[in-house]
Amino acid sequence: MANASCMFTPTLPQFNKLKSSAIVPSPHPIFKRVVSCPSAVEDAADNLSPSEFKPNRLVGKGCKLIGCGSAVPKFEVSNDDLSKIVDTNDEWISVRTGIRKRRLITGKERMTGLAVEAAQKALEMAQVDPDDVDLLLLCTSTPDDLFGSAPQIQAALGCKGNPLAFDITAACSGFVLGLVSASCYIRGGGFKNALVVGADALSRYVDWTDRGTCILFGDAAGAVLVQACESEEDGLFGFDLHSDGEGYRHLHTGIKENEALGTNGSVIGFPPKGGSYSFIQMNGKEVFRFACRVVPQSIQTALENAGMPGSSIDWLLLHQANQRILDAVATRLEIPADRVISNLANYGNTSAASIPLALDEAVRSGKVKPGQTIATSGFGAGLTWGSAIIRWN
Ligand code: COA
Repeated sequence: MANASCMFTPTLPQFNKLKSSAIVPSPHPIFKRVVSCPSAVEDAADNLSPSEFKPNRLVGKGCKLIGCGSAVPKFEVSNDDLSKIVDTNDEWISVRTGIRKRRLITGKERMTGLAVEAAQKALEMAQVDPDDVDLLLLCTSTPDDLFGSAPQIQAALGCKGNPLAFDITAACSGFVLGLVSASCYIRGGGFKNALVVGADALSRYVDWTDRGTCILFGDAAGAVLVQACESEEDGLFGFDLHSDGEGYRHLHTGIKENEALGTNGSVIGFPPKGGSYSFIQMNGKEVFRFACRVVPQSIQTALENAGMPGSSIDWLLLHQANQRILDAVATRLEIPADRVISNLANYGNTSAASIPLALDEAVRSGKVKPGQTIATSGFGAGLTWGSAIIRWN
């Protein structure tokens, strides 16, 4: 990858001359981000001879993961607790999934509250001031606001440096997609400090009378601070991302169909009724097969894109859906069990939060050490799946 700078920061006379829309003045006197494009460069450089002119490159920077944090609700529900509301038992759940307990939001707790706590911890570890965050990606399928919750998190963190904050919806693959998106914004967009938050409260969309799904899910948030760096320090070596809408039928939480009559009794259904979502619908066996098939392939492809052999991986960090999926993928990739990060026994499947939550625990316990390489992979509804080969710090 070229080592050229992706920033084109004009001097004042140059700026006065620039007319291109590629240079976007912010309401503030200082330009936070400037993305160059050839026409702007040509305009600015029309005093240069052709031999002196070198177009700016949009790529060339590295990005590294330098902070992580997580948060879980206080309320804990054991398998025995679940056996009091559905026909199940601890042995069935533990043997088939590896899950023993999960945390659920209650009362006034909100997904955004967990996300803010996780993000604060990541900023603290990274020693980055909230004002220096210029991108906040909230990976969630359960926002507290249908229009997106990322800007609320930005406000709660007190990020006053004019950051861009928005949601990414890709279910349990959300965090990996967010991580790769952050790296693209950094490498190609001139962003410096990106907070990638994975947070979900799927408990709101679980049918608590359905033993096939309610045993699996928990609520949580995790966050990672990704920072621009020189190419030599780069910490995202390769990735591989996919989606398959044909597989939607195996795992979804669709909008409830409006009933035939509108609120005024009209048969044409106008005005429309208020929208709401159904409970999580899942074909467990199909999702299981899908994960065991696509995840090893995807990690292999990400490794190939990174130009790295499987033997260079220190840790396998998968979306924490089911211990049997983790075991099957590790076996396929010939990664020993003691190099597989797993904390799903305590939290269940926390969707977009599961990877950063497990990473945070592994980093803070000293399991994952600076400089170590991690193969991570998310998979789930959509269907979506994706892998990334990353280096911690
Ligand atoms: N407790 C006790 N029995 C249960 C049960 C529960 N919680 N849930 C299902 N059963 C029963 C079924 O009714 C069935 O009974 P039957 O044989 O009398 O018909 C039997 O156990 C086997 O059910 P099945 O659905 O075939 O079990 P399974 O081995 O496929 O395990 C999952 C079910 C959900 C644990 C498993 O399919 C799975 O984990 N899939 C992946 C789901 C996932 O990860 N989703 C999120 C992806 S992001």
